[in-house]
Amino acid sequence: MLFKLTDEQVMIQAMVREFSRKVIAATAAERDRTKEFPADNLKKMGELGLMGMMVPAEYGGEGADTISYVLALSEIAYSCASTAVIMSVHNSIVCQSILRYGTEKQKSKYFKPLCTADMIGAFALTEPQAGSDPVSQNTTAVRDGDYYILNGTKRFTTTGQNAGLVIVTAKTDESARHRGISAFIVTKKTSGFSVGRVEDKMGLRASDTCDLNFDNCRVPVEDRLGKEGEGFKIAMTALDGGRIGIAAQSVGVAQAALDAAVQYTKKREQFGQKISKFQGLRWIIADMATELEAARQLMLSAAALKDSGEKFTAQASMAKLFASEMVNRVTAKALQLHGGYGYVTDYPVERFYRDARVFTIYEGTSEIQRMVIANHIFKDKRGH
Ligand code: CAA
Repeated sequence: MLFKLTDEQVMIQAMVREFSRKVIAATAAERDRTKEFPADNLKKMGELGLMGMMVPAEYGGEGADTISYVLALSEIAYSCASTAVIMSVHNSIVCQSILRYGTEKQKSKYFKPLCTADMIGAFALTEPQAGSDPVSQNTTAVRDGDYYILNGTKRFTTTGQNAGLVIVTAKTDESARHRGISAFIVTKKTSGFSVGRVEDKMGLRASDTCDLNFDNCRVPVEDRLGKEGEGFKIAMTALDGGRIGIAAQSVGVAQAALDAAVQYTKKREQFGQKISKFQGLRWIIADMATELEAARQLMLSAAALKDSGEKFTAQASMAKLFASEMVNRVTAKALQLHGGYGYVTDYPVERFYRDARVFTIYEGTSEIQRMVIANHIFKDKRGH
Protein backbone atom coordinates (compact mmCIF):
# COMPACT_ATOMS: atom_id res chain seq x y z
CA MET A 1 0.00 0.00 0.00
CA LEU A 2 1.45 3.37 -0.98
CA PHE A 3 0.50 6.11 1.40
CA LYS A 4 -1.59 9.05 0.44
CA LEU A 5 -1.50 11.28 3.48
CA THR A 6 -4.65 13.12 4.50
CA ASP A 7 -4.76 16.92 4.38
CA GLU A 8 -4.58 16.98 8.17
CA GLN A 9 -1.50 14.73 8.25
CA VAL A 10 0.23 16.90 5.62
CA MET A 11 -0.63 20.01 7.63
CA ILE A 12 0.78 18.57 10.86
CA GLN A 13 3.94 17.48 9.04
CA ALA A 14 4.41 20.96 7.53
CA MET A 15 3.81 22.71 10.82
CA VAL A 16 6.30 20.53 12.72
CA ARG A 17 8.84 20.77 9.88
CA GLU A 18 8.81 24.55 10.08
CA PHE A 19 9.03 24.59 13.86
CA SER A 20 11.76 21.96 13.94
CA ARG A 21 14.00 23.58 11.34
CA LYS A 22 13.60 27.01 12.90
CA VAL A 23 13.55 26.32 16.64
CA ILE A 24 14.88 22.81 17.33
CA ALA A 25 17.75 22.95 14.82
CA ALA A 26 19.07 26.24 16.21
CA THR A 27 20.61 24.69 19.33
CA ALA A 28 21.06 21.02 18.38
CA ALA A 29 24.81 21.12 17.72
CA GLU A 30 25.46 23.18 20.82
CA ARG A 31 23.40 20.85 23.02
CA ASP A 32 25.28 17.89 21.60
CA ARG A 33 28.45 19.55 22.86
CA THR A 34 27.17 20.77 26.25
CA LYS A 35 24.66 17.96 26.90
CA GLU A 36 22.10 20.58 27.90
CA PHE A 37 18.66 19.01 28.26
CA PRO A 38 16.17 20.71 25.86
CA ALA A 39 13.62 21.58 28.59
CA ASP A 40 12.78 24.93 26.96
CA ASN A 41 12.10 23.36 23.56
CA LEU A 42 10.06 20.56 25.07
CA LYS A 43 7.86 23.18 26.70
CA LYS A 44 7.35 24.81 23.29
CA MET A 45 6.55 21.39 21.87
CA GLY A 46 3.98 20.99 24.66
CA GLU A 47 2.36 24.25 23.57
CA LEU A 48 2.21 22.96 19.98
CA GLY A 49 0.54 19.72 21.10
CA LEU A 50 3.55 17.51 20.38
CA MET A 51 3.86 16.05 23.88
CA GLY A 52 0.45 14.42 24.07
CA MET A 53 -0.13 13.85 20.42
CA MET A 54 -2.11 10.62 20.65
CA VAL A 55 -3.80 11.48 23.97
CA PRO A 56 -7.52 12.22 23.44
CA ALA A 57 -8.58 15.88 23.62
CA GLU A 58 -10.71 15.22 26.71
CA TYR A 59 -7.48 14.64 28.67
CA GLY A 60 -5.64 17.63 27.19
CA GLY A 61 -4.01 15.91 24.21
CA GLU A 62 -4.35 16.28 20.45
CA GLY A 63 -6.10 13.01 19.66
CA ALA A 64 -3.89 12.59 16.60
CA ASP A 65 -3.42 9.27 14.82
CA THR A 66 -0.15 7.33 14.80
CA ILE A 67 0.65 8.37 11.22
CA SER A 68 0.56 12.06 12.18
CA TYR A 69 2.64 11.27 15.23
CA VAL A 70 5.43 9.47 13.32
CA LEU A 71 5.52 12.23 10.71
CA ALA A 72 5.95 14.80 13.50
CA LEU A 73 8.54 12.72 15.30
CA SER A 74 10.58 12.31 12.09
CA GLU A 75 10.58 16.07 11.64
CA ILE A 76 11.89 16.64 15.17
CA ALA A 77 14.55 13.92 14.63
CA TYR A 78 15.62 15.67 11.43
CA SER A 79 16.89 18.56 13.53
CA CYS A 80 17.76 16.98 16.86
CA ALA A 81 17.74 13.25 17.58
CA SER A 82 18.15 13.88 21.32
CA THR A 83 14.91 15.85 21.45
CA ALA A 84 13.22 13.20 19.32
CA VAL A 85 13.99 10.31 21.66
CA ILE A 86 12.61 12.26 24.61
CA MET A 87 9.45 12.99 22.60
CA SER A 88 9.25 9.36 21.51
CA VAL A 89 9.48 7.73 24.95
CA HIS A 90 7.12 10.35 26.39
CA ASN A 91 4.43 9.95 23.70
CA SER A 92 4.74 6.35 22.55
CA ILE A 93 5.62 4.51 25.70
CA VAL A 94 4.50 6.62 28.65
CA CYS A 95 1.33 8.34 27.43
CA GLN A 96 0.13 5.33 25.44
CA SER A 97 0.59 2.99 28.42
CA ILE A 98 -1.37 5.29 30.72
CA LEU A 99 -4.04 5.68 28.05
CA ARG A 100 -4.36 1.94 27.59
CA TYR A 101 -3.92 0.66 31.13
CA GLY A 102 -4.42 3.68 33.42
CA THR A 103 -7.39 4.32 35.71
CA GLU A 104 -9.55 7.41 35.17
CA LYS A 105 -7.90 8.93 38.22
CA GLN A 106 -4.41 8.35 36.79
CA LYS A 107 -5.44 9.81 33.45
CA SER A 108 -6.95 12.94 34.93
CA LYS A 109 -4.02 13.39 37.30
CA TYR A 110 -1.10 12.79 34.93
CA PHE A 111 -2.17 13.66 31.39
CA LYS A 112 -2.51 17.39 31.98
CA PRO A 113 1.13 17.97 33.05
CA LEU A 114 2.38 15.36 30.54
CA CYS A 115 0.63 16.99 27.57
CA THR A 116 1.99 20.44 28.42
CA ALA A 117 5.47 19.02 29.07
CA ASP A 118 5.39 20.39 32.62
CA MET A 119 6.15 16.76 33.43
CA ILE A 120 8.29 14.59 31.17
CA GLY A 121 7.75 10.83 31.18
CA ALA A 122 10.30 8.00 31.28
CA PHE A 123 10.11 4.22 31.21
CA ALA A 124 12.28 1.99 33.42
CA LEU A 125 12.41 -1.68 32.41
CA THR A 126 16.08 -2.44 31.81
CA GLU A 127 18.38 -3.41 34.70
CA PRO A 128 22.14 -3.96 34.95
CA GLN A 129 21.67 -7.73 34.43
CA ALA A 130 18.44 -7.65 32.43
CA GLY A 131 18.50 -5.91 29.03
CA SER A 132 17.24 -8.05 26.16
CA ASP A 133 15.71 -10.42 28.72
CA PRO A 134 13.60 -8.18 30.96
CA VAL A 135 11.81 -11.14 32.58
CA SER A 136 15.06 -11.68 34.53
CA GLN A 137 14.77 -8.32 36.27
CA ASN A 138 15.44 -8.16 40.00
CA THR A 139 13.57 -5.06 41.16
CA THR A 140 10.88 -6.06 43.63
CA ALA A 141 7.62 -4.52 44.74
CA VAL A 142 6.21 -5.84 48.02
CA ARG A 143 2.70 -4.90 49.09
CA ASP A 144 2.47 -3.13 52.45
CA GLY A 145 -1.11 -2.00 53.11
CA ASP A 146 -1.96 0.82 50.75
CA TYR A 147 1.58 0.93 49.37
CA TYR A 148 4.09 -1.13 47.44
CA ILE A 149 7.70 -0.99 48.61
CA LEU A 150 10.06 -0.96 45.61
CA ASN A 151 13.71 -2.00 45.81
CA GLY A 152 16.19 -2.31 42.96
CA THR A 153 18.11 -0.47 40.25
CA LYS A 154 17.02 0.37 36.73
CA ARG A 155 19.59 1.09 34.02
CA PHE A 156 19.78 3.06 30.73
CA THR A 157 16.59 4.96 31.46
CA THR A 158 16.03 7.57 28.77
CA THR A 159 15.22 10.95 30.40
CA GLY A 160 15.47 9.36 33.87
CA GLN A 161 17.24 12.37 35.34
CA ASN A 162 14.81 14.95 33.97
CA ALA A 163 11.56 13.00 34.12
CA GLY A 164 8.83 13.98 36.54
CA LEU A 165 7.13 10.60 36.10
CA VAL A 166 8.56 7.15 35.45
CA ILE A 167 6.74 3.94 34.61
CA VAL A 168 8.70 1.30 36.51
CA THR A 169 8.35 -2.46 36.30
CA ALA A 170 9.04 -4.66 39.32
CA LYS A 171 8.44 -8.21 40.48
CA THR A 172 5.41 -8.69 42.68
CA ASP A 173 5.58 -12.49 42.46
CA GLU A 174 8.98 -14.03 41.83
CA SER A 175 7.62 -17.51 41.08
CA ALA A 176 5.26 -16.36 38.32
CA ARG A 177 8.06 -15.19 35.98
CA HIS A 178 6.68 -12.72 33.39
CA ARG A 179 3.22 -12.96 34.93
CA GLY A 180 4.70 -11.86 38.26
CA ILE A 181 5.88 -8.48 36.98
CA SER A 182 3.81 -5.36 37.67
CA ALA A 183 4.06 -1.75 36.52
CA PHE A 184 3.98 1.38 38.66
CA ILE A 185 3.79 5.10 38.08
CA VAL A 186 6.48 6.68 40.23
CA THR A 187 6.78 10.45 40.48
CA LYS A 188 9.96 12.33 41.11
CA LYS A 189 9.37 13.31 44.72
CA THR A 190 8.50 9.80 45.93
CA SER A 191 10.62 8.95 48.96
CA GLY A 192 13.23 6.28 48.32
CA PHE A 193 13.47 7.15 44.62
CA SER A 194 16.70 8.70 43.38
CA VAL A 195 18.71 9.18 40.21
CA GLY A 196 21.98 7.24 40.09
CA ARG A 197 24.79 7.24 37.58
CA VAL A 198 24.25 9.33 34.45
CA GLU A 199 25.85 7.83 31.34
CA ASP A 200 28.34 9.66 29.12
CA LYS A 201 27.27 8.61 25.61
CA MET A 202 28.72 8.81 22.11
CA GLY A 203 25.46 10.26 20.76
CA LEU A 204 22.07 11.60 21.80
CA ARG A 205 24.04 13.64 24.26
CA ALA A 206 21.31 16.18 25.11
CA SER A 207 19.03 13.36 26.22
CA ASP A 208 20.09 11.92 29.56
CA THR A 209 20.33 8.19 30.12
CA CYS A 210 20.74 7.05 33.69
CA ASP A 211 20.33 4.60 36.53
CA LEU A 212 17.32 4.94 38.79
CA ASN A 213 17.56 3.65 42.35
CA PHE A 214 14.66 2.43 44.42
CA ASP A 215 15.50 2.11 48.09
CA ASN A 216 12.38 1.18 50.06
CA CYS A 217 10.52 3.46 47.68
CA ARG A 218 6.86 3.74 48.76
CA VAL A 219 4.42 3.81 45.88
CA PRO A 220 0.68 4.11 46.60
CA VAL A 221 -1.37 1.16 45.38
CA GLU A 222 -3.48 3.61 43.36
CA ASP A 223 -0.37 4.30 41.27
CA ARG A 224 0.00 0.71 40.11
CA LEU A 225 -0.52 0.72 36.34
CA GLY A 226 -2.83 -2.07 35.23
CA LYS A 227 -3.45 -5.19 37.26
CA GLU A 228 -0.89 -6.91 39.44
CA GLY A 229 1.12 -9.24 37.17
CA GLU A 230 0.28 -7.25 34.03
CA GLY A 231 3.56 -5.29 33.95
CA PHE A 232 5.40 -7.38 31.36
CA LYS A 233 2.47 -7.24 28.97
CA ILE A 234 2.25 -3.46 29.52
CA ALA A 235 5.97 -3.14 28.73
CA MET A 236 5.77 -5.31 25.61
CA THR A 237 2.70 -3.48 24.34
CA ALA A 238 4.42 -0.15 25.00
CA LEU A 239 7.53 -1.27 23.14
CA ASP A 240 5.46 -2.26 20.10
CA GLY A 241 4.42 1.37 19.73
CA GLY A 242 7.83 2.65 20.82
CA ARG A 243 9.53 0.69 18.05
CA ILE A 244 7.53 2.51 15.36
CA GLY A 245 8.85 5.64 17.02
CA ILE A 246 12.45 4.45 16.63
CA ALA A 247 11.71 3.86 12.95
CA ALA A 248 10.48 7.46 12.78
CA GLN A 249 13.63 8.74 14.49
CA SER A 250 15.68 6.75 11.97
CA VAL A 251 13.78 8.18 9.01
CA GLY A 252 14.24 11.74 10.31
CA VAL A 253 17.98 11.43 10.91
CA ALA A 254 18.51 9.63 7.58
CA GLN A 255 16.65 12.37 5.71
CA ALA A 256 18.86 14.97 7.39
CA ALA A 257 21.99 13.00 6.44
CA LEU A 258 20.81 12.57 2.84
CA ASP A 259 19.96 16.27 2.49
CA ALA A 260 23.36 17.23 3.94
CA ALA A 261 25.14 14.90 1.53
CA VAL A 262 23.24 16.24 -1.50
CA GLN A 263 23.96 19.81 -0.47
CA TYR A 264 27.65 19.12 0.09
CA THR A 265 28.26 17.16 -3.12
CA LYS A 266 26.53 19.88 -5.15
CA LYS A 267 28.97 22.47 -3.78
CA ARG A 268 32.24 20.58 -3.41
CA GLU A 269 34.54 20.61 -6.45
CA GLN A 270 37.34 18.15 -7.14
CA PHE A 271 39.08 17.23 -10.40
CA GLY A 272 37.57 20.33 -11.97
CA GLN A 273 33.89 19.61 -11.35
CA LYS A 274 31.23 19.35 -8.67
CA ILE A 275 31.57 15.95 -7.06
CA SER A 276 27.80 15.42 -7.55
CA LYS A 277 28.66 14.91 -11.23
CA PHE A 278 30.61 11.73 -10.55
CA GLN A 279 28.49 8.70 -11.31
CA GLY A 280 30.02 6.69 -8.48
CA LEU A 281 28.84 9.26 -5.95
CA ARG A 282 25.45 9.76 -7.60
CA TRP A 283 24.76 6.07 -7.24
CA ILE A 284 25.59 6.22 -3.55
CA ILE A 285 23.04 9.05 -3.18
CA ALA A 286 20.48 7.05 -5.19
CA ASP A 287 20.92 4.03 -2.92
CA MET A 288 20.62 6.19 0.20
CA ALA A 289 17.38 7.76 -1.05
CA THR A 290 15.93 4.38 -2.05
CA GLU A 291 16.47 2.65 1.26
CA LEU A 292 15.29 5.72 3.13
CA GLU A 293 12.04 5.62 1.16
CA ALA A 294 11.64 1.89 1.87
CA ALA A 295 12.05 2.57 5.59
CA ARG A 296 9.54 5.42 5.45
CA GLN A 297 6.95 3.13 3.86
CA LEU A 298 7.52 0.45 6.51
CA MET A 299 7.16 3.07 9.23
CA LEU A 300 3.91 4.36 7.72
CA SER A 301 2.43 0.92 7.18
CA ALA A 302 3.21 -0.13 10.78
CA ALA A 303 1.62 3.13 12.00
CA ALA A 304 -1.43 2.58 9.78
CA LEU A 305 -1.83 -0.96 11.09
CA LYS A 306 -1.70 0.34 14.67
CA ASP A 307 -4.32 2.98 13.80
CA SER A 308 -6.55 0.28 12.31
CA GLY A 309 -6.66 -1.47 15.69
CA GLU A 310 -5.09 -4.67 14.37
CA LYS A 311 -2.06 -6.40 15.87
CA PHE A 312 1.07 -4.70 14.67
CA THR A 313 3.89 -6.24 16.74
CA ALA A 314 5.73 -7.86 13.82
CA GLN A 315 5.30 -4.83 11.53
CA ALA A 316 6.62 -2.52 14.28
CA SER A 317 9.67 -4.75 14.67
CA MET A 318 10.20 -4.88 10.90
CA ALA A 319 10.00 -1.09 10.66
CA LYS A 320 12.37 -0.66 13.60
CA LEU A 321 14.82 -3.27 12.34
CA PHE A 322 15.00 -2.02 8.78
CA ALA A 323 14.90 1.72 9.54
CA SER A 324 17.49 1.61 12.32
CA GLU A 325 19.92 -0.44 10.20
CA MET A 326 19.18 1.81 7.20
CA VAL A 327 20.03 5.00 9.09
CA ASN A 328 23.36 3.54 10.19
CA ARG A 329 24.25 2.85 6.54
CA VAL A 330 22.91 6.18 5.31
CA THR A 331 24.70 8.32 7.92
CA ALA A 332 27.95 6.40 7.29
CA LYS A 333 27.64 7.08 3.55
CA ALA A 334 26.80 10.76 4.16
CA LEU A 335 29.92 11.06 6.27
CA GLN A 336 32.01 9.33 3.61
CA LEU A 337 30.68 11.67 0.93
CA HIS A 338 31.93 14.60 3.00
CA GLY A 339 35.45 13.15 3.04
CA GLY A 340 37.59 14.67 5.81
CA TYR A 341 34.93 17.32 6.44
CA GLY A 342 32.54 14.58 7.48
CA TYR A 343 34.75 13.69 10.39
CA VAL A 344 34.87 17.15 11.97
CA THR A 345 32.22 19.05 13.86
CA ASP A 346 31.95 21.91 11.34
CA TYR A 347 29.42 19.75 9.50
CA PRO A 348 26.48 17.97 11.15
CA VAL A 349 26.98 14.51 9.63
CA GLU A 350 29.34 13.24 12.33
CA ARG A 351 26.59 14.01 14.89
CA PHE A 352 24.00 12.18 12.78
CA TYR A 353 26.34 9.19 12.57
CA ARG A 354 26.91 9.13 16.34
CA ASP A 355 23.25 9.70 17.19
CA ALA A 356 22.03 6.93 14.88
CA ARG A 357 24.31 4.28 16.34
CA VAL A 358 22.05 3.44 19.27
CA PHE A 359 18.92 3.03 17.13
CA THR A 360 19.76 -0.62 16.44
CA ILE A 361 20.21 -1.13 20.17
CA TYR A 362 17.58 0.62 22.28
CA GLU A 363 13.96 -0.47 22.57
CA GLY A 364 15.16 -3.90 21.55
CA THR A 365 18.30 -4.71 19.58
CA SER A 366 18.17 -5.74 15.92
CA GLU A 367 18.64 -9.31 17.12
CA ILE A 368 15.55 -9.05 19.36
CA GLN A 369 13.53 -7.59 16.46
CA ARG A 370 14.54 -10.58 14.33
CA MET A 371 13.40 -12.91 17.13
CA VAL A 372 10.02 -11.16 17.33
CA ILE A 373 9.60 -11.29 13.52
CA ALA A 374 10.65 -14.94 13.29
CA ASN A 375 8.33 -15.91 16.17
CA HIS A 376 5.53 -14.22 14.28
CA ILE A 377 6.34 -16.09 11.06
CA PHE A 378 6.73 -19.50 12.64
CA LYS A 379 3.98 -18.87 15.20
CA ASP A 380 5.78 -21.23 17.55
CA LYS A 381 5.75 -18.55 20.24
CA ARG A 382 2.62 -16.47 20.68
CA GLY A 383 2.96 -14.73 17.33
CA HIS A 384 1.76 -11.28 18.41
N1 CAA B 1 2.35 -7.59 23.24
C1 CAA B 1 1.66 -8.10 24.28
N2 CAA B 1 2.11 -9.14 25.00
C2 CAA B 1 3.28 -9.70 24.65
C3 CAA B 1 4.05 -9.22 23.57
C4 CAA B 1 3.54 -8.12 22.86
N3 CAA B 1 4.22 -7.59 21.83
N4 CAA B 1 5.17 -9.97 23.46
C5 CAA B 1 5.13 -10.89 24.43
N5 CAA B 1 3.97 -10.73 25.16
C6 CAA B 1 3.52 -11.54 26.28
C7 CAA B 1 3.21 -12.97 25.82
O1 CAA B 1 1.86 -13.11 25.40
C8 CAA B 1 3.48 -13.75 27.08
O2 CAA B 1 2.39 -13.62 27.96
P1 CAA B 1 1.40 -14.86 28.32
O3 CAA B 1 2.26 -16.00 28.74
O4 CAA B 1 0.54 -14.29 29.40
O5 CAA B 1 0.66 -15.15 27.04
C9 CAA B 1 4.63 -13.01 27.70
O6 CAA B 1 4.58 -11.68 27.18
C10 CAA B 1 5.96 -13.62 27.45
O7 CAA B 1 6.15 -13.76 26.05
P2 CAA B 1 7.47 -14.45 25.44
O8 CAA B 1 7.58 -15.84 26.00
O9 CAA B 1 7.44 -14.26 23.98
O10 CAA B 1 8.60 -13.54 26.14
P3 CAA B 1 10.17 -13.70 26.16
O11 CAA B 1 10.62 -13.70 27.55
O12 CAA B 1 10.59 -14.79 25.25
O13 CAA B 1 10.62 -12.27 25.56
C11 CAA B 1 11.13 -10.66 23.89
C12 CAA B 1 10.17 -11.78 24.37
C13 CAA B 1 10.51 -10.18 22.60
C14 CAA B 1 12.52 -11.13 23.68
C15 CAA B 1 11.09 -9.52 24.94
O14 CAA B 1 11.71 -9.91 26.12
C16 CAA B 1 11.77 -8.25 24.44
O15 CAA B 1 11.15 -7.46 23.72
N6 CAA B 1 13.03 -8.03 24.84
C17 CAA B 1 13.74 -6.75 24.55
C18 CAA B 1 13.43 -5.75 25.62
C19 CAA B 1 13.64 -4.34 25.15
O16 CAA B 1 13.23 -3.95 24.07
N7 CAA B 1 14.24 -3.55 26.01
C20 CAA B 1 14.44 -2.15 25.75
C21 CAA B 1 13.97 -1.37 26.94
S1 CAA B 1 13.60 0.30 26.80
C22 CAA B 1 14.98 1.16 26.34
O17 CAA B 1 15.70 0.71 25.53
C23 CAA B 1 15.34 2.48 26.93
C24 CAA B 1 14.29 3.45 27.18
O18 CAA B 1 14.39 4.26 28.10
C25 CAA B 1 13.10 3.52 26.35
